[in-house]
Formats: sequence, structure tokens, C-alpha cells
Amino acid sequence: MSADVHEYSRSKPPRRGRQRTACNAPKRLDLMIVVTGSTGRVGGLVAQRLAQEGHLMRLLVRDPHRAPRLQGVEVEVADYGNPEALAKGLRNGDRVFMVSLWIGGETRLDLHRSFIEAAAKADVAQLVYLSFINAGPTAIFSHAQEHGATEKMLSASGVPWTSIRNSMYADDIPGWFDPDGVAREPGDDARMSFSYRPELADVIVVALTESGHEGRIYNITTPESVSMRELAQIASDVTGDAYRYEPSSDGEWIQRWEAQGRPDWALEAGQTSYEALRAGEFDLVSNDYNRVTGRKAATIARVITNIADEMPLASTRSSL
Ligand SMILES: NC(=O)c1ccc[n+]([C@@H]2O[C@H](COP(=O)([O-])OP(=O)(O)OC[C@H]3O[C@@H](n4cnc5c(N)ncnc54)[C@H](OP(=O)(O)O)[C@@H]3O)[C@@H](O)[C@H]2O)c1
Repeated sequence: MSADVHEYSRSKPPRRGRQRTACNAPKRLDLMIVVTGSTGRVGGLVAQRLAQEGHLMRLLVRDPHRAPRLQGVEVEVADYGNPEALAKGLRNGDRVFMVSLWIGGETRLDLHRSFIEAAAKADVAQLVYLSFINAGPTAIFSHAQEHGATEKMLSASGVPWTSIRNSMYADDIPGWFDPDGVAREPGDDARMSFSYRPELADVIVVALTESGHEGRIYNITTPESVSMRELAQIASDVTGDAYRYEPSSDGEWIQRWEAQGRPDWALEAGQTSYEALRAGEFDLVSNDYNRVTGRKAATIARVITNIADEMPLASTRSSL
């Protein structure tokens, strides 16, 4: 963890279960909020929430035709790799949501560096970064190492920043099972928590629109971590369909991904993710969602209930 950023739970008395009131609500900030990634899933949810709350907003997108149609927002075209465009899109005093990019290795770090340098040059007021649990140089998971390196760049940049760290996306749980409802992963009995995108958006919006979140790291996870076998059991209990876990070896998994034509960085990320899982790196559960929002995070069963139609055996059932 970087020296000047500390985890919320270690630095302040928890606000566990406390509901917001006019008296205890932190000061609302009415500054321009810049949102990256709004053509994607997390950034899209963040932009929608901010629009619903009536905030001033500028969307930085790569393709303006794909920007979400929201009333009264500015749209600027800016790729993370284009400093001139970023200089137009980022301005003094802005509060900025920076989505992490889904690529691997040096390419990702170069693009993240380019964005952070532009934010520092523009003298933005705050940057909220979407990171990953246990990010840092000693992480086994290659993406967690890259998130750690990005957080280090943020510390060195001088820009006040907040890290929203997620685990594997809970709304991607359907993808852990094949069309027969079997999770064939090299996970053994290792446990992992998940992160639900709508809850990540909740926390990102709070961090962008209220004071006092600078210099904090929030771990936004489900209230429990589970093994693959337990995940299959929860999915079966919730849906009434038969999901199960069949352990596979690293070699089988790599063969499967290679056959799908995945790039080298994705193979490295996948392989190190299973090593990290087995080493306990994803077995992290936090109350930070509750502390920041005053609400309880959804359980894994709740998330699967919400997305039951997307589970692979749901289509089998509807075609019977
Ligand atoms: N925790 C997990 O399980 C997990 C899994 C996958 C990814 N992630 C990370 O979480 C991030 C957000 O997730 P998500 O579901 O919202 O991803 P997503 O739906 O793929 O959205 C990614 C966004 O990043 C934008 N983007 C990509 N390259 C860019 C560039 N060079 N310059 C500017 N914008 C660029 C995309 O714009 P376009 O629409 O123009 O492409 C899109 O809006 C991912 O990018 C990845 O870093 C985490």
C-alpha cells in the first residue's frame, strides 16, 4: 500500500449501519465531474447515476456516437493515449472517474500513465481510480500488480486520489459456468469474494460527489467469499437448476483459452489469477460498501437472483 493512502477501516471509526441524514451527510460538491469509460459497464452506471442526481458532467469517450444519451452532459473525444485530446477533456478543478483499461502489461501502464500525467498537468481536484483488491508489487495476479503500479503513479502525481478496489465481477458469475452448468476451473477449494458493478458505481459516485474521500482505499466486495464448489451450490439453490464444480488443471484451462485465440496478456492474466486464487489473494471481504453508503452489500445469492436470467441453464429451462 502506498504511504500516503490508507484503508478507510484503519483510519476512521466505521459508520457501520448509519443512515445518511441532513446532519451527518458530508458536504456535497457541485463541481464538474469527468467520467471515463461511460460506453462500458461500470462507467456507464456511474454516468447514469450522476445524471439522475443532476451533476455537471463531462464524458470522455473514444467514439462520440456511442456515448450514453444523457441530458445536459458535455462529451469530449479522448483516448488515454492521446495527450492533446486529454488536455482538452481534463480541466483545472475537475473531479474525475478514471476507469482502468482492460489490457495487459506495459500497454496498460503506458495508457494509465498518459492519463494520470494529463490529469496532473490539468490540476484536477480529485481522481477516483477503479483498482483491484490486494493491488501491489507482490501480488501474484498480473492485473493486481498493474493496478498497484498505477496506484503508485497516482501517489507520485500529486493529484488527490481515491482507490475503489474490486474483486472479480459478481455480475460475470454466469460466465464461470459452461453451457452445461459446470464450472471447470483450476481453483481447488480456494475462496474468493466478488464485486457487484452497481455497488461499485454507488461508491464511485459518493467518492466523486462528497468531500473527504481523498487519500482512501475502499475494498468493495460481497459480504462473503466462497469456493467454486460453494458458488455452484449457491447458484443451484437460487435457480433450482443443477450447477456444479469440476476441478480442472492449469494445463486444461490454458488449452481451452488458447483454443479461443486469447492474446498472451490475457493468458498470463488468467493463469496468474488462478495462482493468486489458490494463494488466497481473492479471499478478501470488506465492510467498506456499508461504511461509505450506509447500505448493505448484496450477497452472492442476491446477485445471482438479480441476474438469474443470464445464468447458462436459464435458457435450457425456458426452451423445455
Ligand atoms: N474485476 C473484474 O472481474 C474485471 C473483469 C474485467 C475487467 N475489469 C477491469 O474493470 C474495468 C471496467 O470494467 P467494465 O466492465 O466497465 O469494462 P468495459 O465495459 O469493457 O468498459 C471499458 C471502458 O474503457 C474504455 N476504454 C478502453 N480503452 C480505452 C482507451 N484507450 N482510452 C479511453 N477509454 C478506453 C472503453 O471504451 P470503448 O467503448 O471505446 O472501448 C469502455 O468505455 C475494465 O476496463 C478492466 O480494467 C475487471
